[in-house]
Amino acid sequence: MAKPTAADRNLTWQAGGVSQAARRRLLGQRGCVLWLTGLSGSGKSTLATALEKRLIRQGRLAYVLDGDNIRHGLNADLGFKPADRVENLRRIGQVAALFADAGLIAITAFISPYRSTREAARSAAGPGRFLEVFCHAPLAVCEGRDTKGLYRRARAGELKDFTGIDAPYESPRSPDLLLDTANTSVAACVRRLEQLLRDRKIIRGRSPS
Ligand code: ADX
Repeated sequence: MAKPTAADRNLTWQAGGVSQAARRRLLGQRGCVLWLTGLSGSGKSTLATALEKRLIRQGRLAYVLDGDNIRHGLNADLGFKPADRVENLRRIGQVAALFADAGLIAITAFISPYRSTREAARSAAGPGRFLEVFCHAPLAVCEGRDTKGLYRRARAGELKDFTGIDAPYESPRSPDLLLDTANTSVAACVRRLEQLLRDRKIIRGRSPS
């Protein structure tokens, strides 16, 4: 059966009274979703928090939505089967889009292994507001880091559906930015992320060192 439309459910979209231009003036930046994707251990959370700190120090409004953290609250009901991951990312895509609409730089750090869910998040954010960043490190490097000991458990068969081991990861085909996190320092990656935000006119002004 087809999904009921908004009209079927007696819903009407309520237009807001505050323009994007007004929000831009208030915050001195454009809202966007900076979507980091990559294997567990590829550096997403590290880069997201380092970039957030840097932007806040510059007087910009940024906020990290992180996979492990969101799964403690909003998405505490979801596991790691494909349908749960799709729902996890659907909710995050919507929340991040709301943050971007409010004028924030929403930085998301989720494995987000499926191309289709990343594309859905891109559509939710709207044109020009979604930047996909591929945090790329070979599986062997991520597994070598194994900061949470989860790869070891997955290899031992104690953890099922682990991305990269017995669950797939679909690499972005044309990300807005590819970061080789195995060979690039955190500071250098953060500089490239900041440059991306400048290139796409999300932020402007001189870059403080
Ligand atoms: S996603 O696939 O739905 O995007 P998400 O980023 O929210 O995943 O969560 C990934 C984090 O959950 C990992 O960093 C890891 O700490 C933890 N985790 C626990 N079980 C798994 C699993 N089976 N596969 C991947 N990550 C897992």
